[in-house]
Amino acid sequence: MRHRIPHRPPRTRIHRPRSVQTFILLLGLGLFAFALTALATPAQAAPAYQEDKPSNDFCLACHQQQDIAKTLGNETLPVTINPTQFGRSVHAQENILCVDCHTDISDYPHPTVRENSIRAYSLASADTCKECHEDKYEKIQDSVHQVAFDAGNQGAPICADCHNPHTQPRLIGRESGELTIAARKLVPETCAECHVDIYNNYRESVHGKALTEEGNVDVPTCVDCHGVHDIHDPTTASFHNSTPGLCAKCHENAEIMDKYGISTNVVNTYVADFHGATVKLFEEQYPDQPTNKAVCTDCHGVHDIAKTGNPATGVAMQENLLTKCQRCHPGATANFPAAWMSHYEPSPEHYPIVYYVNLFYKFFIPTVLGGMTFFVLTDIYRRIVNRAKGRKHA
Ligand code: HEC
Ligand code: HEC
Ligand code: HEC
Ligand code: HEC
Ligand code: HEC
Ligand code: HEC
Ligand code: HEC
Ligand code: HEC
Ligand code: HEC
Repeated sequence: MRHRIPHRPPRTRIHRPRSVQTFILLLGLGLFAFALTALATPAQAAPAYQEDKPSNDFCLACHQQQDIAKTLGNETLPVTINPTQFGRSVHAQENILCVDCHTDISDYPHPTVRENSIRAYSLASADTCKECHEDKYEKIQDSVHQVAFDAGNQGAPICADCHNPHTQPRLIGRESGELTIAARKLVPETCAECHVDIYNNYRESVHGKALTEEGNVDVPTCVDCHGVHDIHDPTTASFHNSTPGLCAKCHENAEIMDKYGISTNVVNTYVADFHGATVKLFEEQYPDQPTNKAVCTDCHGVHDIAKTGNPATGVAMQENLLTKCQRCHPGATANFPAAWMSHYEPSPEHYPIVYYVNLFYKFFIPTVLGGMTFFVLTDIYRRIVNRAKGRKHA
């Protein structure tokens, strides 16, 4: 849930009254509406003394200059702010002033800064966003990042590591209410700042290539699989057991998959086979217990998922697949994967023998059972008729 933060007192429009009665009524309604919005608006977001605050121009007069910097311990923090970039940011466009965030600065020279490293300076301003984005603070509380941070890992990201407050573009489209396409394409780069090895794998994967090279937004970015502000530990048993559901979100959706000619039967056939059936049952009964059965990512990989026909890593290549099976079936030999029908339902092209045996049974069983039933029914009928005849003769 996100809430909009009005930064100015709302204007209530009142029509010219036709009579005293309607005037009083409208005035009453207007005051009531005003009181409601005022109650729903965080006090700090609707400053009444806007006019008295130093303007952005005042700050930018100095801060657009190149080569100005602040010395923090033995590090140097550049303090140049590009006015054009700032002007395009969501905050500037929402008329948030420099001093709405930098509440302790109103003039020059500025108050003394005590921190003696750039990181310490950043962390000291970590609560800046709370004023207006309280909901996100609540959300991050039990995320892996916050947990790492609370445990003393100062490298774990705070808001400003993922959102540069001076250049942050709008993320959620005004009309659509959804993440914009431009923002979606930039997500992996946000995470790459720190998870560079994973990003490099992802960029080479079938999903990452489509996003970064073709600008295709049907594929998952980091946050589709992990979440954003509420990222949880992906190495737990419950996360592992839930991966088939994660992939199913898209891979069972014909509207997406038909565009790429990819079968939407992969999840069904996986569940129907022994590995999937056991994992599914297992997940329902013991969501938090580790399973030793294969899930999608055991065969396909995680951040390095390839097109199945990719000669180097694709799982349609028997030798590539064999190495995956061998992790859990150490004795498996070259023809082991062939014993498994993978995702394909038997057809005259794939596994013709299985297909025709199935077909044979499809006709054979109904014919035999139907014949038997017919035989039994006619037999019963005959007996009843015979008995009735016998009674008549007696
Ligand atoms: C007269 C020029 C000038 C004006 C006006 C000015 N600054 Fe600065 N500011 C600087 C310089 C120079 C530094 C670098 C270090 C120092 O000398 O304090 C700086 C540093 C900063 C810093 C980083 C370190 C610190 O001291 O906190 C922030 C944040 C900052 N300014 C914000 C603002 C804001 C917001 C305004 C407008 C209200 C503003 N500045 C107006 C010149 C100015
Ligand atoms: C949405 C809140 C917000 C707005 C608006 C904002 N700042 Fe900042 N600013 C911050 C935060 C938070 C930091 C600390 C950055 C970090 O963690 O690296 C910061 C850091 C700075 C710094 C230190 C250098 C740096 O980039 O880290 C300067 C200088 C600065 N701001 C000036 C300005 C000026 C000038 C404006 C207006 C043109 C402005 N800020 C508008 C939140 C804001
Ligand atoms: C004085 C209030 C205020 C402060 C402080 C503030 N913001 Fe914002 N921020 C806003 C407003 C208003 C919007 C526009 C929200 C909207 O349209 O829903 C916004 C939008 C955003 C967006 C884009 C959201 C979207 O829907 O596209 C991000 C990301 C963001 N802020 C991050 C931050 C971060 C990070 C900080 C702290 C460094 C911060 N903000 C501090 C008021 C503030
Ligand atoms: C690890 C990186 C990361 C951190 C830390 C982070 N964000 Fe975000 N945030 C993102 C990404 C990526 C998106 C866009 C993806 C999405 O919304 O699905 C986003 C979206 C947003 C949005 C707009 C979407 C919405 O749901 O309203 C706001 C506002 C926002 N963040 C504010 C914050 C604030 C405030 C903090 C600190 C409490 C914060 N973020 C911490 C990465 C981060
Ligand atoms: C500023 C650096 C930074 C950024 C940016 C960042 N992370 Fe992290 N991330 C960390 C640190 C530090 C940890 C905790 C230490 C660790 O386990 O590696 C962590 C842990 C994680 C974990 C849990 C790892 C585990 O083994 O339990 C996941 C998942 C994760 N991050 C995903 C993301 C995603 C997704 C993004 C982008 C939206 C992101 N991170 C952005 C620094 C960052
Ligand atoms: C298609 C879904 C998916 C996408 C996209 C994805 N991940 Fe993951 N990620 C997973 C799964 C599943 C695991 C757990 C792997 C395991 O069982 O060890 C994981 C594990 C992780 C871990 C912790 C374990 C490790 O390998 O260090 C981090 C950190 C992480 N992902 C970050 C990212 C980042 C950053 C991105 C984007 C560049 C990303 N992930 C994209 C599904 C995904
Ligand atoms: C957000 C939607 C989405 C999610 C979630 C997702 N995928 Fe995909 N996947 C796609 C799209 C779209 C393609 C086609 C990309 C292309 O070919 O350009 C694709 C392609 C693939 C391919 C390549 C098929 C081929 O052409 O040979 C495999 C394998 C795959 N995904 C496996 C997975 C697995 C395993 C998961 C879960 C860990 C997963 N996907 C999660 C959307 C998704
Ligand atoms: C035991 C290994 C294994 C498991 C588990 C597995 N797959 Fe596959 N998958 C394969 C192999 C092998 C192929 C190559 C095509 C074939 O021969 O069936 C494949 C093909 C695919 C394709 C391409 C289909 C096409 O039409 O080109 C997708 C998408 C896919 N798998 C997704 C998944 C998803 C999603 C899961 C989990 C629900 C999953 N796989 C579980 C081995 C596996
Ligand atoms: C993550 C571990 C894991 C991976 C990877 C894996 N399996 Fe399995 N597999 C198992 C487990 C555990 C069982 C036992 C299932 C049971 O008893 O319910 C099993 C059972 C089987 C069986 C049933 C016969 C038997 O030996 O009990 C076949 C056939 C099989 N796997 C084939 C494959 C093939 C082919 C691959 C590679 C494409 C593969 N497996 C990859 C864990 C795995």
